[in-house]
Amino acid sequence: MQDSELFNAGGPLSTGVAEVDRQHARLGQMLGRLVQGAAGESSTPEVQEGFQSLVAFLNDHFATEEAILEDMGSDLLSAIADEHREIMDFASLAQSRLDGGQAQSILKDLFLLEDFVFKHLVTMDVKALRRDV
Ligand SMILES: [Fe+2]
Repeated sequence: MQDSELFNAGGPLSTGVAEVDRQHARLGQMLGRLVQGAAGESSTPEVQEGFQSLVAFLNDHFATEEAILEDMGSDLLSAIADEHREIMDFASLAQSRLDGGQAQSILKDLFLLEDFVFKHLVTMDVKALRRDV
């Protein structure tokens, strides 16, 4: 199974909402590429640029999810929005470390962010959005 298939309808990480699944697949791709770049050949400005795009994408993604959950009248909305804020706070901290010249900490921060985002996806998004579990 390819990584992107994890998020397809019927896949283990699918939320059952096609738009959200597409965004999750894209998020996984962006994080994977950033980790690869930070661990390999990417220059600091390239990693900074990639990280900036990731933060912008996360912002949009969280807004999409919160709008959908609000429409659904989900009682998990406020818990999910809280975790979204925690993830964004962590991402901002990582971004300021990176932009402040601490490029060596970015790989560790990316692993932590990846872990945080995927835990959130499994424990919150799938639970709140999927109607068949
Ligand atoms: Fe999500």
